[in-house]
Amino acid sequence: MLVVKICIGSSCYLKGAQELVDEFRNAVKENNAETKIELSGSFCTGRCNRDGVTVQVNDAVYTGITKENFNDFFNDYVLREIKR
Ligand code: FES
Repeated sequence: MLVVKICIGSSCYLKGAQELVDEFRNAVKENNAETKIELSGSFCTGRCNRDGVTVQVNDAVYTGITKENFNDFFNDYVLREIKR
């Protein structure tokens, strides 16, 4: 199971964390990956970025995720992981 934690700390929240949660939910559903990806939230990990939201995929931390780069991020760092 791949664990994806979306930061819902105040800085990330202001940069669209809630919208990103919706993007993740939809993407997991569209890819029928409910049994492979677990979505959860996290508090501030101290990696607040000027743009976008911080997302943790298992042990890896990525910053600057936005609605605009979401698809690339999801394909490259989430889908690719579960297809390995
Ligand atoms: S609020 Fe998300 S990393 Fe700080």
